[in-house]
Amino acid sequence: MTSPYQKHRDWWKDCQRCPLGKQRSRIVLARGRVPCDVLFIGEAPGVSEDALGQPFIGPAGKLLDRIVDDALDPIFMGSDRPKVVFTNLVACFPKLAKSEGVNHQPAEAEIKACSTRLKEFVDEVARPRLIVCVGALSEKWVPQFIDPFSVEMIHIVHPAAILRAPDAQRGLMVRRCVVVLANAVEALHAED
Ligand code: URA
Repeated sequence: MTSPYQKHRDWWKDCQRCPLGKQRSRIVLARGRVPCDVLFIGEAPGVSEDALGQPFIGPAGKLLDRIVDDALDPIFMGSDRPKVVFTNLVACFPKLAKSEGVNHQPAEAEIKACSTRLKEFVDEVARPRLIVCVGALSEKWVPQFIDPFSVEMIHIVHPAAILRAPDAQRGLMVRRCVVVLANAVEALHAED
């Protein structure tokens, strides 16, 4: 039988609903095993993600993985660790915005065009208990597509912003993300 994720992938793999369809090398849907406990929603695939077809695998993704490990390892010590999955507001590399755009972000129309895909992924495939909005753009848009009363939602600073910050601030920024994430996951765990 075809899994909900397979159906989702088959449906979206050739998507041309917005101009990003022509800018990407490959569509970037999700990374991790579904359904999951915690879903991270970033902004858009970057160069590495576009090349390999998986979200958060470049430098920002490596930092995000470290934040996840630092938050979860002390709580779960390897046993029954919550399943985490990564996706983005838009599934295609916004090549033009990244190379010549004003704010290097996907446009509002592109984010809206991809919201059907995002909502389907959340509701039918990932079915998370906690959504982590990664970065300000995700914090702004995700609650407009996914009812924040239907699932726990938190926000962390985008790891790419941490990498751009002055050296002296980075440690504290990472620590804040770790604490916010650990607290939210612990609250879920306490409900079990
Ligand atoms: N890589 C992603 O997949 N998403 C981001 O938001 C940034 C880098």
